[in-house]
Amino acid sequence: MTVQGVLMKLPHLGGLTARQFLREYWQKKPLLVRQAFPGFGDALTPNELAGLACEEGAQSRLVLESRGKWRVEYGPFPEERFARLPKKGWSLLVQGVNHFLTEGADLLQRFDFIPTARLDDLMVSFAPDGGGVGPHFDSYDVFLLQGYGKRLWRVSEQTDMALVEGAPLRILRHFETSQEWLVEPGDLLYLPPRLAHWGIAVGPCMTWSIGFRAPSAQELGTQFLAYLQERICLEGMYADPDLKLQSHPSEISPQMIDRVARLLRDIRWNKLDVARFLGIYLTEPKPHVVFEKPRPLGLERFRSRLEKSGVALDLKSRMLISGTTVFINGEAVEVSPDALPCLRDLADRRWMKARCSVAVAELLRQWYNAGYLKFR
Ligand code: SIN
Ligand code: CO
Repeated sequence: MTVQGVLMKLPHLGGLTARQFLREYWQKKPLLVRQAFPGFGDALTPNELAGLACEEGAQSRLVLESRGKWRVEYGPFPEERFARLPKKGWSLLVQGVNHFLTEGADLLQRFDFIPTARLDDLMVSFAPDGGGVGPHFDSYDVFLLQGYGKRLWRVSEQTDMALVEGAPLRILRHFETSQEWLVEPGDLLYLPPRLAHWGIAVGPCMTWSIGFRAPSAQELGTQFLAYLQERICLEGMYADPDLKLQSHPSEISPQMIDRVARLLRDIRWNKLDVARFLGIYLTEPKPHVVFEKPRPLGLERFRSRLEKSGVALDLKSRMLISGTTVFINGEAVEVSPDALPCLRDLADRRWMKARCSVAVAELLRQWYNAGYLKFR
C-alpha cells in the first residue's frame, strides 16, 4: 500500500481507512460492511465452481449434514457427484480460487492493506437453501464476501468452544447467537480468529472467503527446525580423550551429556535466518500446485517483450521480499539494492512494466521459464 493509500478511506471497509480498520477491528471484533463491493457476485456461477471442484489442481470439499450427522468428502470430484447430491443439507467449498480466476486474484489485491505474508487464499463456497458448514470458529482472520444469493450470518461471543465429538470437521456443540445479519451480494463481513460463527444459506448462495493465515507456534517451530536441519553445518566431532572408567557401562554419563550439550550449543540462528525461513516457508507452493512451463525464451526476446508488455505473476505464484532477499515460490534470491524497486512493484502489485537492468531481466527470464511469470 502506498502512503496515500494508508490515508485513504476505503469504500470496501465502509469508509474506514486501512489504519482505522487495523486499529479498531483487525483481530479484535467483527465488521459488517453493506455493499462493500456493489454489483459483486457473477464472477463465478455455481456450475463453474462445481467445474473447478472436479479439477486435479483445486482443493475442494463437500460438507454434508443429515439429522445432525456431518460428513466430509474431498475432491477432485467426478462430475456425476453433483448430479447425485440431495436437495438440501450440503455445501461445496473450493480453496485457492485465486489460482484459477483472475477476478479472484484481483479481489485479493483489494485487501493489500494486510501484508501479503499473512494472506492465505480465496475460498468460494456454494450451498443450497439452509446449507452451510455449521456453527464453528476458525483460527484465522477472514473477510466473507457475499457473492450470489443471501446468507444469514450469526456470530456469538460465547466462550464455550466445546466441539461435537467424532465429527469430521469442527462443529460447536452449543451455539448462542449474539448478533445476526442477513447479507446480500456485495456485503462484506470481517471476522477475527476464534469468534464463533454460523453461516446459513437463505436460498442458494455463494460466499467468497478471503482468508489470512496465522500459523500456530507449533507449526512455525517444527517448520523452522526442518529449515535449520537442511542448512545446519556443525564443525568437529564427538571426542572424549578424558574418558573415565564407568562402573555401569550402560549408563549415559553426565560427562557425555555435557560434551554433547556443548556441541549442540553451536546450533544457532539469528533474525536473518528467521527472515529467510519465513520467506521460503510462506512462498512455498502447496503440494498440489504445478507451474506450467512455457517455451523457454532467450534473454534478448524476453527483454523486448518485457519492455513492450510487462510481466505479471502467474496466479499461483507467491512472492515476498525481506531486505534484499526476494522469495518466489519457495526459492530465495539475493539481489542488489538497485534491483529492488522493479521487483518490489512486481511483488506488491503482482505485475510490473519497466525498463530494468540486464541482471533483473535475466532473473525475471528464469522465473518466466519456470512458469512463475506471464506476459501481460
Ligand atoms: C462458507 O463459506 O460456507 C464457510 C465460511 C466460514 O464459515 O468460514
Ligand atoms: Co468459518
